[in-house]
Amino acid sequence: MKDIIGKAVIDYHSGNYIEDIISSTNISDEDVLPLPYLFRDFKEMPRLEQKALQLAKGKVLDVGCGTGSHSLYLQQKNFNVKAIDISNGAIEVAQKRGVLNTEVLNILDETERFDTILLLMNGTGIFQELSQVVKYLRHLKRLLRPNGQILIDSSDIKYMYEDEDGGYWIDTNANYYGELDYFISYKGEKELPMKWLYLDFNTLHFACETVGLDCELVMEGEHFDYLARLTSK
Ligand SMILES: C[S@@+](CC[C@H](N)C(=O)[O-])C[C@H]1O[C@@H](n2cnc3c(N)ncnc32)[C@H](O)[C@@H]1O
Repeated sequence: MKDIIGKAVIDYHSGNYIEDIISSTNISDEDVLPLPYLFRDFKEMPRLEQKALQLAKGKVLDVGCGTGSHSLYLQQKNFNVKAIDISNGAIEVAQKRGVLNTEVLNILDETERFDTILLLMNGTGIFQELSQVVKYLRHLKRLLRPNGQILIDSSDIKYMYEDEDGGYWIDTNANYYGELDYFISYKGEKELPMKWLYLDFNTLHFACETVGLDCELVMEGEHFDYLARLTSK
């Protein structure tokens, strides 16, 4: 990983905001990811994220925290929060923004236990592909304290395959339709291609059954997105 996102958020935070991150996928053209969005405050967050923050309880782990927007909000509400990310740059910025407990850490290497585990802004993305979902869920379940909860958001991206006739051009012989190859660039520099998983609620629900997690649909968003709450059975 070249940590392109890290470089971009460091630039933004140090007052050198001149351009945004450009993203594209194997099924969609270039799009702009505005850097200010990665620094959003509570009122700028989607309702699903606001709801997740309102449901937080106890000791919280913010997985893939980015610049720490969710952690900062909870910290201000006196929650004990740990924020982790694999991006050095993101963690540097989260620290500079005031997140007290941060670590550059892959979620699979986390060992502490928590009452709430947050995975937000397509939280299933870090699972990368359908075949890895059970591995990540098993690990997340082990990190839960008794009565703990995982709050995770994602989207059913079937709509991205819809053609003009209202049919879908999904190749049923190919991998799960929510598995995307994700490409980002910033100031002309390209990140290494990443796998990024969007998971529809039913598939998440099924995977949760496999690992002994209850999966509750907390809220649906405006565009095929949803927030789910996972708890141990
Ligand atoms: C879409 S961003 C979301 C950032 C932040 N949660 C937000 O809502 O602004 C996903 C973040 O997850 C981090 N990430 C990806 N895989 C990870 C992993 N295995 N463990 C921890 N963080 C990871 C990325 O570096 C990135 O900062």
